[in-house]
Amino acid sequence: MTLAPAHDELVENLIEAMTWEQKLAQLQIAFRPRLEDAAELVRSGIGAVFWPRSAEATNELQRIAREETPHGIPLLVGLDVIHGQRTTFPVPLAQAASFQPETAETDARISAQEAASGGVNWTFSPMIDVSRDPRWGRVVEGFGEDAYVNAVFGAAKVRGYQGESLRDRDSILACAKHFVAYGQAEGGRDYNTVDVSAQRLRNVYLEPFRLAVDAGVATVMAAFNTVSGRPAHANHFLLTAILKEELGFNGVVVGDAEGVVNLLDHGIAEDLPDALRQSFAAGLDVEMGGNVLTADGGARLRPDDVPLARVDDAVRRVLSLKLALGLFDDPYREPDLEVTAPSRASRQVALTAAEKGLVLLKNESVLPLGPERKRVLLVGPYANSTDHLGAWVQSFAAPAGSLADAIRQECPEWSLAVKEGTGFFEGDASLIADAVADAAGYDAVVVAVGEPSALTGEASSRSDLRLPGAQEELIRAVAETGRPMAVVMFNGRPLVTSAWVNSVPAVLEAWHAGLEGPRAVARALSGSMNPGGRLPMTFPRSSSQVPIYYDHENTGRPATVSGTIDGGTLDVALMGPGNTDDHYTSKYKDLDLGPQFPFGHGLSYTSFEYGGLKVSAPEVSVADLRAGKSVGVEITVRNTGARAGDEVTMVFIRDLIASLAQPIRRLRGFTRTSLQPGEARSLYFELGWNDLGFWDNDGRYVVEDGDFEIHVGGGLDGTAVGELRVRP
Ligand code: NOJ
Repeated sequence: MTLAPAHDELVENLIEAMTWEQKLAQLQIAFRPRLEDAAELVRSGIGAVFWPRSAEATNELQRIAREETPHGIPLLVGLDVIHGQRTTFPVPLAQAASFQPETAETDARISAQEAASGGVNWTFSPMIDVSRDPRWGRVVEGFGEDAYVNAVFGAAKVRGYQGESLRDRDSILACAKHFVAYGQAEGGRDYNTVDVSAQRLRNVYLEPFRLAVDAGVATVMAAFNTVSGRPAHANHFLLTAILKEELGFNGVVVGDAEGVVNLLDHGIAEDLPDALRQSFAAGLDVEMGGNVLTADGGARLRPDDVPLARVDDAVRRVLSLKLALGLFDDPYREPDLEVTAPSRASRQVALTAAEKGLVLLKNESVLPLGPERKRVLLVGPYANSTDHLGAWVQSFAAPAGSLADAIRQECPEWSLAVKEGTGFFEGDASLIADAVADAAGYDAVVVAVGEPSALTGEASSRSDLRLPGAQEELIRAVAETGRPMAVVMFNGRPLVTSAWVNSVPAVLEAWHAGLEGPRAVARALSGSMNPGGRLPMTFPRSSSQVPIYYDHENTGRPATVSGTIDGGTLDVALMGPGNTDDHYTSKYKDLDLGPQFPFGHGLSYTSFEYGGLKVSAPEVSVADLRAGKSVGVEITVRNTGARAGDEVTMVFIRDLIASLAQPIRRLRGFTRTSLQPGEARSLYFELGWNDLGFWDNDGRYVVEDGDFEIHVGGGLDGTAVGELRVRP
């Protein structure tokens, strides 16, 4: 999709006719003002507002903008539509677990339709901050630890929100955020310092933004954090040299809420005018907070603070988007057509999305429990909780039900008993004892545990990644009864499970999966569906093991357990378990090597086998790659079990010798395939220029000659390995 032409006549005539103050007014969005105040702000010429909560109220603000301001410029109307408006889809991290970008695209499409019907024309989504530290609460809003997954899912979201054309009535502007490297906040503490090398900035954090820009994302939000000492909001290198010039982004850069004001606390600006001057000079186009003008409409920036051409450029970007959205023709919405509740169809899509994100972490012949008659005991704080929508949910979204109700609905043959056993935070030994006392009378026990969604999202970092309260005790108490049992986890980040995971036979990761999350879980427990999702983030063994992520460098002294796992020592470093006595190696003395559950991990009720890996050519030259040639990778996957199921196939590369130390695996392709029992499918991937190189510390993308390994399979373990030589 291409944005509106940069020099449209209508836009240029407006710029010509506008005063300095009128221009500045277009460059701000007030942060969630009261409705009465919003009307006044619009009268004063403000260019954008937060959504006033109905089509009718939005129409009134648009009317004021069109009829009561000198140039009649319509409004951008923004809202954080992150994973749903009325129909809540799984949190983005759970969507990533589907390893099926269509999940994110359909969420964005339906969210755009619902939001646009009420007058929203701009969402602050997708968040594509690669995040390798689960202490950071915002990992829930993104697509996990891998740059490529974030890139692919982010682009899918952009396509979904923006549709075929921004002019379409159900298209809204997307916003790729937060630019950039916000996910590397020190210690996982939100808003914290980011100090990142040039190569990591480009290879990891910028990669998803590159793809979002290619997908035509209309807006990008600056991050709260510093990068190498300079806050992103006032960072000319990031906002202008990289984003606008190098990536060729011609949309709008918006600040985060009061992100410009925060420059004072960062200690790089003396006062608000200074902060504004530095931000607009750096390449910011719209300030979020409404500080560009004073309360009485005066300008906080004088014409000699920022070059007129820079301000005109920002205004041109804003007006071009308004034009592209068709707002100058018709900014109004039909109140009767406003979608205020999920439809049958949107619920069905939300159910599919929730199902696709389920990850079966462990299963020793317990799941599925089967639909037939049996006595099931459901315990834990998530048995009756309806807290399934997750972080960043609209206060007006349709509420979810509980797992207990979903089981009653989806598994009518079961006789279900429900006992809470413990709250999320407060534990009581007698309640736990009571919950498990009569476990012997049941055929199976399901333990529904997790972290409430208030522990996830913005400003919700955690230092301890274990289940809160007495939930671990509850799990252990149930495990001690010896009854067949399964733990279901509802959470918005990787959790540490080491205190109990070895004593339970089955664990299902359900995330905060939105409106239809509980039904998806009930269907997975009974076996009406077969979970096939994979972890988009590593689950550590301990909170102090983070950051831990699959695409790490080997180090000069990798810790491995030689010979204990098939396929060589490297897999032990990736996967664990076990430790080594080899003293001078990179590890913790008191922790097994590798994570609890690695990136890409996920089981199924069926089994899959791979065979016939073929790499189309043993060699390719750097010049041919540069000219667009690619190498084909082919493999056959077969469902060898008795049930239909989905398999996620991943292609990782390893560049064995390079001038900069390379990750031991780097994901460059994945696909999810549904297979009937016995069915086989041949899969094809391509590796080209963009896959085989890396960004160096001088900001250059290089493909170096040498040997590559190509690992293809259902995750980091059990892969088939091919070889490729890149010739000079
Ligand atoms: C702050 C958050 O960082 C950002 O992601 C969000 O879009 C804005 N607030 C607006 O609500």
